[in-house]
Amino acid sequence: MSLLLGVNIDHIATLRQVRYARTPDSHNAEPCPITAGHDALAGGADSLTIHVRGDRRHMQDADAYRIRAEVPLPLNFEMGVTDEMVAIALKLKPDFACLVPESREEITTEGGLNVLASMEKTRSAVARLQDAGIRVSLFIDPDLGQIEAARIIGAEMIELHTGEFANAVGEQVEAEVTRLIAAAQAGHAAGLQVNAGHGINYANASLLFAVPHLAEFNIGHTLVARAVRVGLTAAVREMKELLAHYPVGV
Ligand code: PXP
Repeated sequence: MSLLLGVNIDHIATLRQVRYARTPDSHNAEPCPITAGHDALAGGADSLTIHVRGDRRHMQDADAYRIRAEVPLPLNFEMGVTDEMVAIALKLKPDFACLVPESREEITTEGGLNVLASMEKTRSAVARLQDAGIRVSLFIDPDLGQIEAARIIGAEMIELHTGEFANAVGEQVEAEVTRLIAAAQAGHAAGLQVNAGHGINYANASLLFAVPHLAEFNIGHTLVARAVRVGLTAAVREMKELLAHYPVGV
């Protein structure tokens, strides 16, 4: 099995909201996240990721239900750890849910979920999702304590936050890769599926090939940026071709 590509299409909805946030039902509202889902599928995406935020700044509830109904790809529902989002997930029935921290001030998800500081609340959300047949991932920093907490509360997967890696320059890059290697080894040893995401792009993805045991990359921004030039289907296809060089089994 090769490294899988989860395509995050939130940014398509972000673009639509820039113009149509106040008139979401306008017949002119574009670009359409459902069409983007079909384009990602045509490019070889292995799954779609969407994040309905508490403030609904990009994906709307109606987008999520339509994507689920109309795009035949596994769906990863990114969500804050709130009763509101658990209730939506139980109705939406995605294949996977990825629990993320959320605050109104951030531009995008910043930092991983602090599972250690919220064990009971996270455990309860994980259990409610799993009872509905949804596999659960926790978006965490590459920190051994957080990985152990993810194991203890019974998540099936972790998504290692690669934002620090993506922002690193010079010697810091190698330090971040080393941190990710240790985290991936610990996650794998704990029996967790290990995914990675945030800030991964065409230029830095191959640096992560030194990290073992990775099952899936979740990527959004760079694909949409590239899509402006070549279209989303081609952008996804190019990324799939790049990820085919990941040495699975290391
Ligand atoms: N994974 C998670 C948990 C995220 O919140 C995001 C950002 O929406 C991504 C992956 C994708 O990050 P990017 O848009 O930088 O590729």
